[in-house]
Amino acid sequence: MTARPKPGLDTRAARAGINADPGHGAVVAPISVSATYVREDAAAPGPHDYARTSNPGRALLAEAVAGLEGAAGAVATASGMAAIDLLLNDLPGGARIVAAHDCYGGAQRLFNARAAGGRFEIVYADCTDLEALKTALAPGAALLFLETPSNPRLRITDIQAASDLGHEAGALVAVDNTVLSPALQRPLELGADVTVSSLTKLINGHSDMIGGVLCAKDPEAVERHRWWANAAGTGLAAFDAFLGMRGLRTLPLRARAQSDTALELARRLDAHPSVRRVDHPGLESHPGHALAKRQQSGFGPLLSIEIEGDAHAFVQRLEVFTLAQSLGGAESLVSIPALMTHAAMSPEARATAGIADSLIRLSAGLEDVEDLWADLDAALRAA
Ligand SMILES: Cc1ncc(COP(=O)(O)O)c(C=O)c1O
Repeated sequence: MTARPKPGLDTRAARAGINADPGHGAVVAPISVSATYVREDAAAPGPHDYARTSNPGRALLAEAVAGLEGAAGAVATASGMAAIDLLLNDLPGGARIVAAHDCYGGAQRLFNARAAGGRFEIVYADCTDLEALKTALAPGAALLFLETPSNPRLRITDIQAASDLGHEAGALVAVDNTVLSPALQRPLELGADVTVSSLTKLINGHSDMIGGVLCAKDPEAVERHRWWANAAGTGLAAFDAFLGMRGLRTLPLRARAQSDTALELARRLDAHPSVRRVDHPGLESHPGHALAKRQQSGFGPLLSIEIEGDAHAFVQRLEVFTLAQSLGGAESLVSIPALMTHAAMSPEARATAGIADSLIRLSAGLEDVEDLWADLDAALRAA
């Protein structure tokens, strides 16, 4: 008998958690809300013991994401930030962290607060510039924290080259894979050790839960992160694990459709007389275009723009795009990062990361592209 080939990513996503209910034979795994699980023997816990430690739905979702990322295992957490915090828990006191200078504002808030409390030393670097990264890593580092494409400017870091530099400096290399998800980018195959993602975004894709996931290549690291999630009680709740899994089954399909829409909008905006600049890695003029084509399997749902008119008037005028934080959902969203997602950064840190006060971020959803375009065009004319 010839061995069957490994199922493709779409198959693995669509089949995630299917037929996984030996109790009742449910096709879709049920939500298990029990806080605690029966022990047949006081000295021998079963697969689940106490729901802070593990929950069947949470475990299924973590396993499914780990499979898509190519990880040894994963830990599903209460938010994307809780997944980043798990990563920090595993570092020794006084560790030196080098992080991308344009990583998510909430991640920077956490790094800065922990550094101010004396827990770590944090250094920010432009990780798209390998010479600058090498300089930042020169004194050594315990963790290199990358985000590519970065949110909101969509700069592309060479994951393989940056991972090699991180490893030479003795660092564990982590990539925030939120913007693309494993459907469009698999950093562990490109040399990184760990990925963290907000499940809230593309993976759930319906903007109806908050969650996160940490995936690691090293099985011992997975165990340590599980230990911390249990110790600190930061595991994902049962209902949210169910919603995350329901979203994940359609992730590859949505990621492709939203990437197509974002690219089409980016091309049209790039040619619009009222648009000063478009950041989208799918545009040939984007400095990271060739690299993005090589290391990603899609360009993702995000694009950022600077316009000739007033950014506030523009976002208020949009009707199909909703003015709200977040990205990757089925509904298109618009935001002004300096006032919203990246407000926690200082004005100086935002200037260094290239986030102007007037920068507008768009997350393309699943609406008809012509409806989205008509909305943008009308708002540009009005602004
Ligand atoms: C790139 C990135 N990483 C992490 C997070 C944090 O995720 P969560 O909001 O689920 O905590 C976000 C949230 O916007 C994000 O955009």
